[in-house]
Amino acid sequence: MIETNCSLKPFNSFAIEAKTEQLFHLKNRTQFPELLVHIKQAIENNKPILILGGGSNILFCENFAGLIIKVELSGVEVTESESSYLLTVGAGENWHKLVTDCIEQGIDGLENLALIPGVVGAAPVQNIGAYGTEFKDACESVEYIDLDSGQLHTLSAEQCLFGYRDSIFKTPAFKNALITQVTLKLSKKWQPQSRYGALNNLKTDEQITAKQIYQSVCQIRSEKLPDPAKLGNAGSFFKNPVVNQDLADTLLALHPKMPNYPQADGKVKLAAGWLIDQASLKGHQIGGASVHQQQALVLINQGDATALDVVKLAGFVRDTVQQQFAVELQHEVRFIGAVGETNLSEVLKNV
Ligand code: EPU
Repeated sequence: MIETNCSLKPFNSFAIEAKTEQLFHLKNRTQFPELLVHIKQAIENNKPILILGGGSNILFCENFAGLIIKVELSGVEVTESESSYLLTVGAGENWHKLVTDCIEQGIDGLENLALIPGVVGAAPVQNIGAYGTEFKDACESVEYIDLDSGQLHTLSAEQCLFGYRDSIFKTPAFKNALITQVTLKLSKKWQPQSRYGALNNLKTDEQITAKQIYQSVCQIRSEKLPDPAKLGNAGSFFKNPVVNQDLADTLLALHPKMPNYPQADGKVKLAAGWLIDQASLKGHQIGGASVHQQQALVLINQGDATALDVVKLAGFVRDTVQQQFAVELQHEVRFIGAVGETNLSEVLKNV
């Protein structure tokens, strides 16, 4: 079914008002032929196409002048071998519900990724990660439909080229790849991942269970990260920047307590939230948008923010951090303009 001229407010966790010319709800695989007809029409009419999951990592900067496909494919199939569980999950399933159901059924391994908003099909795109674990650690393969040809393809985890908040699905060649389902492999020989920062205080003896890690992660996240159902936001707005050793040393000489995470390639990852916090930007407000008081990495919609409020605030945060620390912040949230993906600098040029 296709809707026309409809509001996107319910479909983005920032709760920003924007409209799309067309919205197609993809609920099951039998709709593929119908979907491909709409795609063909959109291409013939030079209309942009956007694939939308849970809308939890997106900022609609203006009305969308084309076709949005809302992925709502459901279903979870579990098979098991002697050593592991294999889960094949529809791209439209809610990620946190999957994690919770797994933990309840004694299928361990996703607990560090609890409470990450969004749908399963979006998880590989930016290789979601938290508390020392990433989606790629559990990924076996990803199936997608090529919207140009209508062909289904499957990529192994290795072929997905996962990186920090990155994968092949972010490259232009995969612009028309709609992820249909994901297969996860979870070992029956579960190993806790509890060494990361905030989870350090958990006991590391053999008694620790996946359920305890799950509960801790849920507790930490709900204390620091605002619930999008109550306060519009898209999680971490910026990526943690990776800088060269010289700059890290200079900053560390000035701020000995600055969090820093040396990388395998000799570079150093810094905490964007710390930099924004140190620049005294917590609570900073432009229009209806502000920097979250409890976690500076999150920008929030206080209720009536426009996309422009968020864009201006993001620009102010980026520029302030650049001036104070000579570090360039890149946004993690994807910016969507009238004709497709754009970015903060582009949008600010037209303000
Ligand atoms: N910090 C501050 N002030 C702040 C925020 C953070 O001083 O306002 C400091 C913290 O004290 C800590 C450091 O910065 O020393 C890092 O903060 P934290 O451990 O909370 O994690 P993060 O780097 O802010 C990342 C991910 C989160 C993920 C957490 C937990 C990115 C961009 N963000 O946040 O992911 O949940 O680690 O692993 O990598 C998301 O992508 O939407 C997201 C929430």
